[in-house]
Amino acid sequence: MQTVLSGIRPTGNLHLGNYFGAVKNFIKMQEDNNCFFFIADYHSLTTHPKPEDLQENVRKVLSEYLACGLDPEKSTIYIQSDMPQVAELYLLLGMNAYVGELERTTTFKEKIRKQPENVNAGLLTYAVLMAADILIHNAHKVPVGKDQEQHLEMTKKFAKRFNQIYGVDFFNIPDAYNFGENLVKVPGLDGSGKMGKSEGNAISLIDDPKDIRKKVMKAVTDAGPVEKNQTKPEVIENLFSLMKLVSAKDTIDFFNDKYNSCEIRYGDLKKQLAEDVIAFTTPVRERIMDIYNDTDYLNKVMKMGKEKAIESGSKTINEVRKIIGFRPFY
Ligand code: ADP
Ligand code: TRP
Repeated sequence: MQTVLSGIRPTGNLHLGNYFGAVKNFIKMQEDNNCFFFIADYHSLTTHPKPEDLQENVRKVLSEYLACGLDPEKSTIYIQSDMPQVAELYLLLGMNAYVGELERTTTFKEKIRKQPENVNAGLLTYAVLMAADILIHNAHKVPVGKDQEQHLEMTKKFAKRFNQIYGVDFFNIPDAYNFGENLVKVPGLDGSGKMGKSEGNAISLIDDPKDIRKKVMKAVTDAGPVEKNQTKPEVIENLFSLMKLVSAKDTIDFFNDKYNSCEIRYGDLKKQLAEDVIAFTTPVRERIMDIYNDTDYLNKVMKMGKEKAIESGSKTINEVRKIIGFRPFY
């Protein structure tokens, strides 16, 4: 059985891109893999959140994950900071991570630009903590988006380096995993290509119908087709791609025909798309709210995740300590 691991920072709400691009596949993967899904709250300290926001955001993301169908019985769903073994492995891996290679990381260079007033050591060693997240469970597969590929390359490098320094074959070398034929790119509504939190073009699972209608109606379009059966420009293709995710086949065929015969009214298409998005998100939104308000359930899930994560992490850290020359701790 393969071990799959994925982490998400508790910033913002899950959007359709996260759902169709990642979470939907996680739900399938938990059937036949040993899955670890965690909320990277240590990582989020690099941007200095307020303590009360941190707690709240962790519970929000956890509720969203659970509402989408991640199952705490099948997978290990946990909070990163509930597992001190990660912090210890981070310290140990950090001893063999070189400042030069950390400074060359694209995400670090970007952060220096974005938050020049707060270039903390956590930003510099972001990739070391991420490597600790992955190696603490000796994961085989790590589903990551494009922006995280470099971090995974560094994880491989740190794992190989550790094995080499100590002459062991201890850490598995993890693979970046993209979902193959299930890989979808969810477009944004502004014609920019990809839906993303930071792009400000996202529809969140938690958005209410009014917001969704507003966002969809504002989507960028063009002046309309001028020739029958012409190729769709990207902004229009984007709307159809969103439809493919949430609408019935008949609806898509109907608007395709209208487009091909140059009779399309984008207003009608957007109205229909908004209603189909709402029909898709409403039950999810209701589940998110129910779970979020059920403190006992959330606490139970966190406790269960913490126990399973610690059991797996303690084994790794004991071995690592022995290899390095320390006494085992757990
Ligand atoms: P954001 O771009 O909003 O910051 P994240 O980087 O947190 O999103 O996304 C986490 C994961 O969700 C990504 O690794 C990717 O698998 C998936 N994802 C996010 N946005 C999209 C998208 N527009 N299309 C497909 N998958 C996406
Ligand atoms: N850095 C990832 C992100 O910003 C989140 C993350 C932290 C992660 N640790 C991880 C993802 C380990 C995969 C594996 O999206």
